[in-house]
Amino acid sequence: CCARCRPRCPPERSDPMYTPRSAEWFVGDSEISVMHRVALRNSGVTEDLESGRPLIGIADSSSTLNPCNLPLRSLVEDAERGIREAGGIPVVFPVMSLGEDLMKPTAMLYRNLLSIEVEEYARSYPLDGLLLLAGCDKSLPGALMGAASANLPTLAVVSGPRAAGVLDDARLGTGTALWRADHDRQSGTRDSAAWKSFERALACGPGTCNTMGTASTLAILTEVLGFMLPGTAGAAAGSVARADAAYRSGITLTETVLRADPADTPQRILTESAFRNALVTLCALGGSPNAVIHLIALAGRVGITLDADTLDRISREVPVIADIEPAGAGLLADFDRAGGTPALLHTLDTLVDADLRAADGRPWRTHLRAAETVPGRSLVAPAAGAEAQRVSGSVAPADSTEAQPAPGPVVPADGAEAHPVPGFDAPAGDTEHEPSARPGHLAGTARPIRPLTDPVASEAFAVLRGNLAPRGSLIRLATAPDLRRVHTGPALVWHSYAQMRREIHDPNLAVTPDTVLVLSGAGPVGAPGMPEWGVIPIPRVLAAQGVTDMLRISDGRMSGTAFGSCIVHVSPEAAIGGPIGLLHTGDLIALDLDARTLNVDLTEAELAARLAARVQPEPADLRGWPLLYRRHVGQADTGCDFDFLTAHTPEQRRVVQP
Ligand code: FES
Ligand code: MG
Repeated sequence: CCARCRPRCPPERSDPMYTPRSAEWFVGDSEISVMHRVALRNSGVTEDLESGRPLIGIADSSSTLNPCNLPLRSLVEDAERGIREAGGIPVVFPVMSLGEDLMKPTAMLYRNLLSIEVEEYARSYPLDGLLLLAGCDKSLPGALMGAASANLPTLAVVSGPRAAGVLDDARLGTGTALWRADHDRQSGTRDSAAWKSFERALACGPGTCNTMGTASTLAILTEVLGFMLPGTAGAAAGSVARADAAYRSGITLTETVLRADPADTPQRILTESAFRNALVTLCALGGSPNAVIHLIALAGRVGITLDADTLDRISREVPVIADIEPAGAGLLADFDRAGGTPALLHTLDTLVDADLRAADGRPWRTHLRAAETVPGRSLVAPAAGAEAQRVSGSVAPADSTEAQPAPGPVVPADGAEAHPVPGFDAPAGDTEHEPSARPGHLAGTARPIRPLTDPVASEAFAVLRGNLAPRGSLIRLATAPDLRRVHTGPALVWHSYAQMRREIHDPNLAVTPDTVLVLSGAGPVGAPGMPEWGVIPIPRVLAAQGVTDMLRISDGRMSGTAFGSCIVHVSPEAAIGGPIGLLHTGDLIALDLDARTLNVDLTEAELAARLAARVQPEPADLRGWPLLYRRHVGQADTGCDFDFLTAHTPEQRRVVQP
C-alpha cells in the first residue's frame, strides 16, 4: 500500500480487533448512527465513516488577534494532508487563541479554560486522536493539560519562532530587546526618535517570541515529554521545515492511533521520569520560569506531584548550556540550526534518560545528534537589495536564513565546508571557546548549545522559602547575573499594579539601589490570573544613575523573555492572606541565596497582628469567568490549576524524584 492509494484502502492495524472510539458514533444502521454519519457528510467529509478510519481532531488556535498563533492557519492543511495519507479523517475545531501580548490582564487567566475546551471537545465529539496547534505561551500548556485529562493519543505542532527584526546591525530578540530598550529610554540614553524606530523594527511578522521565552521553552519541553516530533520545536514560523513538521505530525499521530497501544496515551507517556527529563532540560535551557507552573499543572493532571524543590536540586546539578536570550546571546533560530532539542539532549548525555519515548514512539536515544556549531558564520546576512530595509530599522529580509532553517549540515555563505566544532565531545578541562556575540548580534552566537564544561551559567533557578514565602518563590538565576547572593534592604511596597505604574518613574521616588521593590496583588487569585507584572521597571531616578538591576519581589509571574533579579511566584499570594500582602514600605527584607531563604524582619506575632488588622476587599465587579477562576484556582506551587481539574485520588498520585 503506498501513500497515494492508502487513503482509499482500509487502514492497517496492528490489532485486528481494534475499532476506533468514533465507531460508536458511526457504525450501525440505527437512526442515531445515520444522524451522525449525515452530520459529518454535511460538513464535507466524504470518507466512508464505517470503514474504521480514525477521526483525528485538529485543535486550531489561530487568530488575527494573536500574531504568535497566526501561522497555524496555514499548517492546518499540511496536517490534514498527513492525516489523510496515513488513513485517518481530519476534522478541525477552533479553540480559544491565547496571546500574551494583547490579553488583559494576562492570557494565563484563560489557560485552564483552554484546557477545559480541549478536554470537552474530546469528551463530547467522536475523536480518536488530538493534534494540538499551539504557539503563544499559554496555548501549548493549556491544550496539553486538556489532552492529558482526555487521554487520547496526542501530538502538538507549534507555529514556530518569528523572524528577528534588525536595528543598528543587531537582531532584536522578542521581548528581551523591548525590556532593554525601555530601560535605555528611562535612563535617557534612547531618545524618542530612537524609540520610534525601535518600534518599527520590532514589528517583524507573525510567529512566537524568538527568544527563550515561555513559548520556546514550552515547545522544547513538549518535544522532550514526547508530544512533538523530535527536532521540530525550533523550526521558524512560515518555513518549509515548519509545514513539514505539521504534515509529518499528521502521519505519525494517525499511525499512533491505528497502533491502538495503550502505551501511546498521555497518562502512560507522562511518567515521573518524563517530568524529570523536562526539568533537566528546563535548567539546561535557562528557560522560562513560567514553565515551572505549567509543568506542575500538567503533572497534576496525571496524578504526579512535582515539587519546586525538586527543580531546585536539579538546578544545582545541571548547568545552563543554551546560549539563547535572555540567559545568553543567541536566538531560537541559532538553537534550531545547532541541532535543536536532539542536540541539547545529546549534550546533556547521562543527565537525561534517553530511553524515554519520543513522539514517534521510538526511544529518544535514536534521535540524538551532536550539536553543530559554526563559529563566525553570518546567520542573517541580508540579501542583496535588503540593505536599505535593514538600515531603516525594518525587518529581516524574507529570504534570510532566519526564515529557512535548512535541515542537514550548515554551509557558510561562501560555499566552503562547514567545520562543526566539537561540543559535548570536547576534551575534559578544555574550556576554550569562541566568545559569545553580544546579545542580538547579527552573527548570532558561536555556540548556541555549549558543552557542559563551558556553560552560560552554573545554575538556572533557585526556590526560596522563609516567612515571606512559606510555600515558596522562584528566581531565575540564569538571567540575574548581577544578583547579590546575600542582600538585606528596605522594602518599597505597592499593593496595586496600577499604583506602581503611576509612581515607579516619579522623580521624587525615595529609592536607592539597595531598596527591594515589592509588588503584591499580582497572584492567581488577586489579579486574577497571575499576570507577568513581576519585572518591576528600574525606577527612572536610578536608571539615570546607571543602575541596571535591583532586587524585586512579587506574587505575580514574569515574562520568560525578561531578566533581572526578580523573585516571582511568591506563595501564598497577598489575596489569600500571604505575608507579601502584609509588608509595609521600610520593612527589612533579607535574601540569602545559599541558604535559599527569603525573609522579612518581622516576628510571627507582628505578621499575625497585621493579618488580623488587614481589610481585604472582595472585588465587587467580578462576574463570569474571572469569578469562577478566583474560586477554584490554586497557588503557584500547585501549578495554578483548578481544584476540580487535577487528577484522581491520593492513591493514584506519584512523585517526581530529583
Ligand atoms: Fe506570544 Fe511570546 S508573546 S509567544
Ligand atoms: Mg511571555
